[in-house]
Amino acid sequence: MEQITIPTVPLLDGGSIPLVGTGTLFTKGNELANLLAECIKDGYRLLDTAAQYANEVAVGEAIRRSGVPRDEIFVTTKVAGVDQGRELTRHGLEDSLRKLNTDYVDMLLIHWPNPSRGLATETWQEMLELQSEGLVKHVGVSNFLPHQLEELYQASGVWPVVNQIQLSPALARTEVRAFLAERGIVAEAWRPLGNQEHAMDQIIVQTIAERHGVDVSQVVLRWAVQQGIVVIPASKNRERWHRNADLFGFELSDQEMTDLATVDLGEDKAWDANVHEEW
Ligand SMILES: NC(=O)c1ccc[n+]([C@@H]2O[C@H](COP(=O)([O-])OP(=O)(O)OC[C@H]3O[C@@H](n4cnc5c(N)ncnc54)[C@H](OP(=O)(O)O)[C@@H]3O)[C@@H](O)[C@H]2O)c1
Repeated sequence: MEQITIPTVPLLDGGSIPLVGTGTLFTKGNELANLLAECIKDGYRLLDTAAQYANEVAVGEAIRRSGVPRDEIFVTTKVAGVDQGRELTRHGLEDSLRKLNTDYVDMLLIHWPNPSRGLATETWQEMLELQSEGLVKHVGVSNFLPHQLEELYQASGVWPVVNQIQLSPALARTEVRAFLAERGIVAEAWRPLGNQEHAMDQIIVQTIAERHGVDVSQVVLRWAVQQGIVVIPASKNRERWHRNADLFGFELSDQEMTDLATVDLGEDKAWDANVHEEW
């Protein structure tokens, strides 16, 4: 199979992030290390992990097994809910660095805002400190709603560079994305294939895929990257992980983007970060 080449998108802080990466939540241990190492050798450069996934050792091992230099790979990890707050955020990152076997991570995200504890702002301030010390290159968040992003900005004068959210044509998150776009914050899609929302089963998605001679998965992912949204699909299957990054040889028309808007189930079908919390 051909080597995969993936374009990048600029970040607010002057850096950049690959438009397509791989999730890491699909298996564990040695199998994860081996599959991810193959993904990296094939050309994937963005790896999405989290302290909460308990797989950072395998992710670090995958980088080592791939033989690709560390500085060519973009590693994202996340502050777990239990690690929010000044001191624990620092300890949590130190733990992640040790498990990943690296001196820095490319991006650190707050995994969920967890409003019941009210610690997101001080977690954010500590992350900015960790960034100034070089332990983290870019700082962002995950699953934040606009008012929760505003709180971070009011306290620090700094917007997160990325907000990783549940996002696919079936959960288009129109209002959240408009807020991000106005401030130059990159949207990153978790569960980008929209499996649980049956995005790939929709007739309009199948019709568009047939028209372009591509797979339904490519239509769903192209919808995102065409709008500058970063996607992190995960697959155990090599043909699929190649297909999931093969998104740059066709373009969806304005009419097709309008047609795809009809499969959006609406904001109230997305997990609500005002009440949903993770630890
Ligand atoms: N920030 C957060 O709160 C959060 C929450 C959830 C997930 N995430 C991150 O987002 C990543 C992706 O999310 P996800 O794993 O939930 O969803 P996903 O990547 O959209 O879907 C993964 C599933 O889709 C299948 N698949 C992959 N490529 C396919 C293709 N081309 N055609 C058909 N099926 C395909 C996989 O099966 P096969 O292996 O059989 O191909 C797997 O069952 C995670 O790994 C994790 O890193 C973040």
